[in-house]
Amino acid sequence: MASFICSILLITYIIYTTSSASALTSTSTAFRPKALVLTVSKDPSTLQYTTKLIQRTPPVPVLLTLDLSTPISWVLCGNRYVSTTYRPASCGSPPCILANTERCRTCGPTPFKPGCNKNTCRTLSLNNPFTNVSPRRGGELATDVIRINSTDGSNPGQLVTMPNNLFVCAPMSLLQGLAKGVSGVAGLGNSKTSLPSQLSSSFRLPRKFALCLSPLRENGVVFIGDGPYNFFPGVDATTLLSYTPIIANSARPNNFFIGVQGIKVGNKNVTLNNFLLSINRRGNGGTMLSVNHPYTLLQSSIYKAVTAAFDGQLRNSSFPAKRVPPVKPFTLCYDPTSLSYTRIGPVVPDIDLVLQSEKVFWRIAATNSMVRASDNAYCLGILDGGKNPRTSILIGGFQIEDNLLQFDLAKSRLGFSSSLIYDRLRCSFFNFTSNAL
Ligand SMILES: *[C@@H]1O[C@H](CO)[C@@H](O)[C@H](O)[C@H]1NC(C)=O
Ligand SMILES: *[C@@H]1O[C@H](CO)[C@@H](O)[C@H](O)[C@H]1NC(C)=O
Ligand SMILES: *[C@@H]1O[C@H](CO)[C@@H](O)[C@H](O)[C@H]1NC(C)=O
Repeated sequence: MASFICSILLITYIIYTTSSASALTSTSTAFRPKALVLTVSKDPSTLQYTTKLIQRTPPVPVLLTLDLSTPISWVLCGNRYVSTTYRPASCGSPPCILANTERCRTCGPTPFKPGCNKNTCRTLSLNNPFTNVSPRRGGELATDVIRINSTDGSNPGQLVTMPNNLFVCAPMSLLQGLAKGVSGVAGLGNSKTSLPSQLSSSFRLPRKFALCLSPLRENGVVFIGDGPYNFFPGVDATTLLSYTPIIANSARPNNFFIGVQGIKVGNKNVTLNNFLLSINRRGNGGTMLSVNHPYTLLQSSIYKAVTAAFDGQLRNSSFPAKRVPPVKPFTLCYDPTSLSYTRIGPVVPDIDLVLQSEKVFWRIAATNSMVRASDNAYCLGILDGGKNPRTSILIGGFQIEDNLLQFDLAKSRLGFSSSLIYDRLRCSFFNFTSNAL
């Protein structure tokens, strides 16, 4: 029933947006993109993954940090927010209902400006995922124009315009904790108001998006809509995907949880407290994806079991690896000269996250487990998440790099490739040379 109401709202919202859209851009409706594409960079100091959107009139590039838990994008709305196409959402309008805003407010004193208008709805759930700060008065819900590259799956194509992209106009106090040059968060959470959901509805694309993050100095990519996702001429990485259900967690509906049933290290079961792997009545436990954590966090007892197995296997091999003092934030580090290597990197046990059956697992191989923390240390890039974290397994950015992940919102399933490097592909192989006329 709830999803039925949501669909009606979404349709109302689309009619609402497209009717006011035609006045702005009559040409944009003629071309129907197959999919859309965004570039993703990694900020070297915060390790945040950022993307660039073109927003407003006149258009300006806006750098946003990606977040898989934020249900609706937010953009800082200081005095520098200037746009003739900014439209605050008036109380009770379809966007306010769709975004489930909690408050109606008239900001004063006049003059009104972006972030501060008469009779507009505000969301109180606005939150900076890096500092966990939520402004007391929330932020004004609004729409503005965004432009984004279309794609045929092989190259970026012509820019398309979404005239009424819904976002939250956030107070400047939310800036803290974001990477340099960033002015907000791109909401990639599991919601109808996320950036991919809105773009899918607006351009009538399948409700799917795919994320392929790259290490530093290389560009990653987000696709909105279905594949092909070509990382080399003629190589569609969707063929490399396995699928697992996205698990609903009613206490935390905007997050992406998957059902990890067990962990193997070097193909051997690790004994874990299975209670921690499931989601309890309060929404705690389980396994969640989070690109705002640079490294995977495991609840302490899981961490201890996994690292003991990993270290035991490495040190009891025929060429025992030598431990060296830890390099922060890591604890398990090895002398690089004591490890053996293949073309891909050091030889270490694979860490498999076993999903709905023994046959379906997400393999974390060396490229996603070992971090070259210094000249003298190769470290396991997985951290102790503490005794009582809200989520038992948080899969972080480093473990996702050079993996293709497809979030299928319509089917509630996650497609995952494990490391593309074993298929001689990388996320940065997407050809960003435009083939727009
Ligand atoms: C490993 O654990 C799974 C259950 O997660 C079980 O079905 C399987 O038999 C175990 N394998 C071994 C070798 O113990
Ligand atoms: C990238 O795309 C452009 C435009 O289609 C093409 O000319 C070029 O050969 C491609 N590069 C590679 C490495 O495939
Ligand atoms: C669109 O693609 C072109 C070619 O890669 C790139 O230069 C441009 O920055 C992209 N525009 C946006 C809005 O991402």
